[in-house]
Amino acid sequence: MPVEGVGVTAVAVAAARALETDRPDPLIVDPWAAALVRESGVAVPFPERWPERPEDAAAVEHSMLLGAMYIGMRTRFIDDELLAGGLRQVAILGSGLDTRSWRLAWPAGTRVFELDSPEVVDFVERTMDAAAATPTADRTALGADVTAPWAAAIVRSGFRPDQPTHWVLEGLLPYLSAHDQSALLDDIIDLSAPGSRAVIERAPALTDTPETRERLETFALATGIPFDELLARTDPPDPAVVLGAAGWSVEETRVEDLERRYARPLRVDRDETATAEQRGGFVSVHFPIR
Ligand SMILES: C[S@@+](CC[C@H](N)C(=O)[O-])C[C@H]1O[C@@H](n2cnc3c(N)ncnc32)[C@H](O)[C@@H]1O
Repeated sequence: MPVEGVGVTAVAVAAARALETDRPDPLIVDPWAAALVRESGVAVPFPERWPERPEDAAAVEHSMLLGAMYIGMRTRFIDDELLAGGLRQVAILGSGLDTRSWRLAWPAGTRVFELDSPEVVDFVERTMDAAAATPTADRTALGADVTAPWAAAIVRSGFRPDQPTHWVLEGLLPYLSAHDQSALLDDIIDLSAPGSRAVIERAPALTDTPETRERLETFALATGIPFDELLARTDPPDPAVVLGAAGWSVEETRVEDLERRYARPLRVDRDETATAEQRGGFVSVHFPIR
């Protein structure tokens, strides 16, 4: 039975993590990703197995393999940031089918808050319960919309704004309008005690130009996403600027930096041109204790 409301984007990311897990040299191992994809009933075009010779894969499969390679690297980068940060309160916004609450070796006493739509949160809970998975952190899941007021709800669920938090915005900003991205960054600033950190995957910096509008028209027709909604995502705020102005220290990580760090060029065959420039890169920010 397909699960209402578990969007194809969240399932696609989990399918990419399942594929990463199947590689002979995985950067992350997500033992639950394949089951989450299967149980969602949502069809995604990802292959289930990492091919023995990826360079021989059919052309249509190439972009899936590249996407999975990128997601593997992004997941590992954020895992590394969270474990290095060592904060005992973590909040993952737009958590989708994320399994970090079960997967990572968290320091004792870590509390992880996951926030996504009620359907996504319920689906993850049911599937992980059915898999008899045991969380490695004290996990709280919250069904909420980050474009509507959500601060009071997370506080009611036990979140402590007086404690430093490590925030995760992974694959979320590209789905929000520029206005909602700004409001969300402001909410995070308001809910953050000194010592807080955030790791943010940027939305691609699309500028509203006649060429962009033309491309968005085509994309709207292909995907059924209303053109106005796509247009509202152009000219997004730069999280580095917003958080920097609020006194946070900022470190930028480009996709090319990750390719070097994890020795993983984003290429399936030798002739492929790198796709890194299509990705927004990451901003890691820290609100210092003064
Ligand atoms: C591409 S998925 C990424 C999921 C997860 N962060 C990951 O990397 O696996 C985007 C997620 O953001 C969630 N999302 C989108 N808009 C949201 C909103 N306004 N409030 C809460 N969650 C939202 C979607 O439901 C989806 O699960």
